[in-house]
Amino acid sequence: MKKHNFSAGPCILPKEVLLKASEAVMDFNGSGLSLIEISHRSKDFVAVMEKARSLALELLDLKDKGYTALFLQGGASLQFLMVAYNLLENKAGYLNTGTWSDKAIKEARLFGEVVEVGSSKDEDFKYIPKGYTVPKGLDYLHLTSNNTIYGTQFKKFPKTDAPLICDMSSDIFSRSLDFSQFDLIYAGAQKNMGPAGTTLVVVKDDILGKVSRKIPSMLDYKSHISKDSMFNTPSVFAVYTSMLTLEWLKSRGGISAIEEENEKKARLLYSEIDLNPVFEGYANIEDRSLMNATFNITDEVLKSTFDEMLKEAGVNGLNGHRSVGGYRASMYNALSLESVGVLVDVMSEMERKG
Ligand SMILES: Cc1ncc(COP(=O)(O)O)c(C=O)c1O
Repeated sequence: MKKHNFSAGPCILPKEVLLKASEAVMDFNGSGLSLIEISHRSKDFVAVMEKARSLALELLDLKDKGYTALFLQGGASLQFLMVAYNLLENKAGYLNTGTWSDKAIKEARLFGEVVEVGSSKDEDFKYIPKGYTVPKGLDYLHLTSNNTIYGTQFKKFPKTDAPLICDMSSDIFSRSLDFSQFDLIYAGAQKNMGPAGTTLVVVKDDILGKVSRKIPSMLDYKSHISKDSMFNTPSVFAVYTSMLTLEWLKSRGGISAIEEENEKKARLLYSEIDLNPVFEGYANIEDRSLMNATFNITDEVLKSTFDEMLKEAGVNGLNGHRSVGGYRASMYNALSLESVGVLVDVMSEMERKG
């Protein structure tokens, strides 16, 4: 039976990408060798790394604008630390929109003063903070563009003189933005880009080199930049698969084309959530994420029936994050409108039964 994969990450990837990636594991570029058994310094793999880096900048429209793209390891979680290590001298601002920004704040506090410029903790992170004032003199301002767990997403970004740093792990390459408003973007691959194991970092070169502390080489963005993202052995399979996904995205018309699809999917699901009395949305309507739709069932007694119906329809990965509960439908780039349709059909069937 066809599965409809709504998993929050690692998550659905395009079938064509999985096919090509699996072929490369057996025989890379007709070389008779596997992608994962050749040197990362080989001509063929160096070309993969270059292509992946260049496609990332091209799709974000950041080519020739002073940015470098890197494929690092350690997940987005290592970036919580690396950002502060490389950029925090005195004081940084953070917008706290839930678990991931909270974790980023915790790491930054090891390096300097952290000001929580805005927070939605008072309402269990159901909304995106607004109306705050960004203090002057920050080393940078950090935010999480899409809150995977709560299903909220920034629609507008703060204006600040300080470098703007964005954890874009769960909505990168999903919507058109002026990406040049950010000075550093990071994103774990395992949502819209590839398998877990690599993290895309896009950094504006001129924000680096300003802190006085010594930075261990592996944690220094400059080491990775100077070695073209090959300071040490990169995660070759994850980088190759990410490259394939970026090619797939480009061939489908890039971010603006996928954004239209993502909007259609989100409209379909949210209208069902709003019209169907068996369900209620978690996040405030104006701040809802196009990627992760969070909702609850209004009568817990119906839960086991609904779960059974989801299983029968082949719907996978709909459980909410353990810290929030309820349901979460993650609609990343590779998920089809058809899959959302299947979920919506199950939800309306539930209404008829309930
Ligand atoms: C927004 C966001 N930031 C950071 C992370 C942590 O990523 P990683 O597991 O790659 O460290 C996640 C994981 O889901 C996430 O959704």
